[in-house]
Formats: sequence, C-alpha cells, structure tokens
Amino acid sequence: MHDVSVVIAAGGSGRRMGGRTPKQFLLLGGAPILERTIAAFHSLRAVREIVLVVPADCVSRAAAIVRRAGFRKVAHIVPGGKDRQASVFNGLEKCSFRSGIVLVHDAVRPFVRRDTILSVIHAAGRYGAALAGVPVKDTITIESPGGSGFSSRTLRREELWAVQTPQGFHFALLQEAHMKARADRFHGTDDASLVERKGTRVKIVHGSETNIKITNPDDRKLAEFLLGEGRTLQWRPKAAPPRAR
Ligand code: C5P
Repeated sequence: MHDVSVVIAAGGSGRRMGGRTPKQFLLLGGAPILERTIAAFHSLRAVREIVLVVPADCVSRAAAIVRRAGFRKVAHIVPGGKDRQASVFNGLEKCSFRSGIVLVHDAVRPFVRRDTILSVIHAAGRYGAALAGVPVKDTITIESPGGSGFSSRTLRREELWAVQTPQGFHFALLQEAHMKARADRFHGTDDASLVERKGTRVKIVHGSETNIKITNPDDRKLAEFLLGEGRTLQWRPKAAPPRAR
C-alpha cells in the first residue's frame, strides 16, 4: 500500500460564482463545500496527510473548519498562488511523504466517490500518473481565432474525455513536471497536462458524472439536487410487517 498525500486546491477566489465568499467556503446542505471535499479523502486509510491550499486571506477560516470537523490528517494549510498551478506548487512543497503517491483534487468537487479515489491511487501506483475522467457526451467544436463566434473545427468525439480530479502521481514525477512547467513558463489548467509535457503517459480512470466542479450558480443548484438524491438513495424502506396468516 502506498503512502498517499493529498493536495486540495482551494486557492481560487471563485469570481464566476459572484459574491465575496470563495465558492469552496459556501454551504452545501449546511456544511462548507471544502469540508465535504476533505471528508471524502480523510476517511481513507491510505491517505496519510492532506495539504490544503487556500486564498491567503482564508487561512484562519479554513483552519476553523478543520478544527471543528476534527480533520487530524490536515498537516498544513498554505496560501495559494495566482493560478491553480501555482497553488498546487505551493501545496507540493509542504508534502512529507515524497516517496509515495500524491493526489491533487479540486476543492470544488465534493461529490468525488471513494471508488474513484481508490482507482486513481491504484493506477497512479501502477503507471506513475493517472487522472479521473468521463467520456465527453457533447460534440466539441473549436471557435475560429479571435472570438469570431463561428466554429472552425469539430473534434472527433470518440477520442475525447472530460478531465476531472482527483489526479494521482508518483510524487517525484509531479514535482519535476511542475518545475519544468515553471522553467518553461507553461501554464496548464490541470496537473496531468504538465506530466504529459514531460513525455509521461497518464492513465485515464473512469470518474463519474456526479463528480461535478461547482463553478457557477447553476452548478450550485445542481449540487444541492445531487445532495438530495444522495440522501434519497441512502434511505431504506422499513422492513415489511409480517404477513397475517
Ligand atoms: O480555476 P478552476 O475553476 O479550474 O479551479 C479549480 C480548483 O482550483 C478550485 O478548487 C480552485 O479553488 C482552485 N484554485 C486554486 N488556486 C487558484 C485558482 C484556483 O487552488 N489560484
């Protein structure tokens, strides 16, 4: 079993959601989104430490959530950078289990499933790098340059995956990939793309359609709905009364 460190990227300001509170701190069914996301990883035995990366002015707010929920595996809460990549870089610097696997996860994906996390850990151990993703259902087209409003090229859907987190890596591999991206001034929107640039293949693991990224107000409504669905699914009918003879 690998030692697993988890970096939770919660350093965004969440401007697309509107309002002043970053979306990862908004309540979902009475608990902050960030708390729900941490809980998904905290309960796994392989997870040895969790490093939270949050906006610089939210460190004490995050610490209060961690204290109240009793998340003992949260080893560090560090300030984020100017983009996601810079935030993850800050988180990696604080990880202790450098011979193991590191998972990177978006704080705003609280519905990540246990089996997805375990599959990513397993595939990262075996292949060095893995990501959770789902096959794309929509047809994806590229707009012609300059925001013309016209499509210029439509991609072959059969080859496309929507990339999610968690993504998992041998620690040294991800750290090298981040160093290289930094040196090349390359900015990616996820970690797997940095590893691909180094020439390492990233194994795709099936995630789930419900592992949504809560980005805008509509996503938040969908999240409330998914939470309700989860509760409904957990509901069990009472045992039927014994039949009268
Ligand atoms: O920017 P995007 O929507 O892809 O954000 C995905 C995750 O990255 C979010 O959980 C967000 O808080 C985090 N992030 C970060 N530091 C930034 C920007 C985004 O940790 N500077």
